Amino acid sequence: MVAVVRCLMVLLLAQVLLEGATGLIPEVGRRKYSESGKQTPEQSESFLNEFELRLLNMFGLRRRPTPSKQAVVPQYMVDLYRMHSANGDHSTKRPKSMGKHAERAASKANTIRSFHHEESMEALASLKGKTTQQFYFNLTSIPEDELITSAELRIYRDQVMGATSPNNNSRNSSISNSTIAGGSHRINIYEMFGVPAAQSGEPLARLLDTRLVQDSLSRWESFDVSPAVSQWTSGKGHNHGFVVEVVHPEEGEIDGGHAKRRSRHVRVSRSLHQDQDSWPQARPLLVTYGHDGRGDSVLHTREKRQAALRKQRRKHQHKASCKRHALYVDFSDVGWNEWIVAPPGYHAFYCHGECPFPLADHLNSTNHAIVQTLVNSVNSNIPRACCVPTDLSPISLLYLDEYEKVILKNYQDMVVEGCGCR
Ligand SMILES: *[C@@H]1O[C@H](CO)[C@@H](O)[C@H](O)[C@H]1NC(C)=O
Ligand SMILES: *[C@@H]1O[C@H](CO)[C@@H](O)[C@H](O)[C@H]1NC(C)=O
Ligand SMILES: *[C@@H]1O[C@H](CO)[C@@H](O)[C@H](O)[C@H]1NC(C)=O
Ligand SMILES: *[C@@H]1O[C@H](CO)[C@@H](O)[C@H](O)[C@H]1NC(C)=O
Ligand SMILES: *[C@@H]1O[C@H](CO)[C@@H](O)[C@H](O)[C@H]1NC(C)=O
Repeated sequence: MVAVVRCLMVLLLAQVLLEGATGLIPEVGRRKYSESGKQTPEQSESFLNEFELRLLNMFGLRRRPTPSKQAVVPQYMVDLYRMHSANGDHSTKRPKSMGKHAERAASKANTIRSFHHEESMEALASLKGKTTQQFYFNLTSIPEDELITSAELRIYRDQVMGATSPNNNSRNSSISNSTIAGGSHRINIYEMFGVPAAQSGEPLARLLDTRLVQDSLSRWESFDVSPAVSQWTSGKGHNHGFVVEVVHPEEGEIDGGHAKRRSRHVRVSRSLHQDQDSWPQARPLLVTYGHDGRGDSVLHTREKRQAALRKQRRKHQHKASCKRHALYVDFSDVGWNEWIVAPPGYHAFYCHGECPFPLADHLNSTNHAIVQTLVNSVNSNIPRACCVPTDLSPISLLYLDEYEKVILKNYQDMVVEGCGCR
């Protein structure tokens, strides 16, 4: 009975998809769909709304996200997406600036989220020999059932002017020689435990990560902030934000006139950033790695699909009998290209065909399906077994949620890898 109901549902879905002609219906396909004359426009409208709602539900979203034109997709997220979902393209390497801990975390996570800090809540302080900046990242959009296993804070820093040319000694009399000979500075990342006591001015904080960096390089630095973020998201701690502290040992004694130079060490604030156009891509980024307990990691998507594709190529196909057919779901047909950054669509495939008596071995049937087909051959009141997916694989989606946060997530059972009679 259950099998029959499932069979009917699958047939209905296949019918819906096929009548959509160009793939998955709404928006563009909507007109064609209602012209097919099988349903009134009102009926198909409400059906499509229901259909979309169910799909969004499946994605864990309450409504269709409608990101603004200003929504920024960080290049790092695009790189992670390429790395994880490249279709058989092994040349895609991990992003150069990706931390080792982040790489390990990504291999276990099925959801990777990125956050920009709340600029209205930043606080900048320039003390003698160091610059500190407070950041707050609003993480409330992370669902409760998502376990955060790792988090990295990524900060872009610019090379210090003059640090690249140790031999250029036109200014060597006024500045200490370590700056000229390619010095270094230290970046400390702290978790804040509350607002600073008014008198002392020093916020309560614990050190999360630290690094000594060369002045002469422009690059992203990745800091491990997992302990703080996993406490915040599991409800064991309150999110008061981070402090990023940049220490310039050599400049401690030299005062005045170097504030501008110092500020170029780390582009931590829009106000300090010189090229405003590049700010959206150069601003700090918090990346969380988590798992909601459903299915494989983002990294395994690619491996599983490749294995399944190889298997598929080996299998030889029969004509009218149950088999896999091409079905490309184009997200722009559904109007979803506004919030799904990548891929533009994907090969979902579907199962269709006869499950004739007697069931052949390659139809991957169950004993039950064989019995049902047997009964059907003598009693046509009992339907034949159904042609259904027997093996499904996940895909990775890079998308913007309703708060314009960029998320890379692995979705289970999105692609038919094999069909069978059940
Ligand atoms: C965080 O974001 C949520 C959802 O947008 C909002 O309701 C909340 O007020 C924000 N919290 C802070 C501290 O900005
Ligand atoms: C030395 O510095 C000057 C200006 O600061 C620059 O024009 C010149 O190209 C530099 N020379 C080398 C060899 O880097
Ligand atoms: C740079 O410093 C070295 C050693 O302190 C000195 O010999 C040299 O003359 C200086 N060069 C200039 C251009 O001031
Ligand atoms: C300049 O560099 C030399 C060797 O690299 C070092 O011994 C000396 O202490 C440095 N001077 C200053 C003022 O930092
Ligand atoms: C038949 O389906 C099962 C369950 O999806 C799968 O484990 C098995 O590999 C399939 N066999 C063939 C020959 O495709």
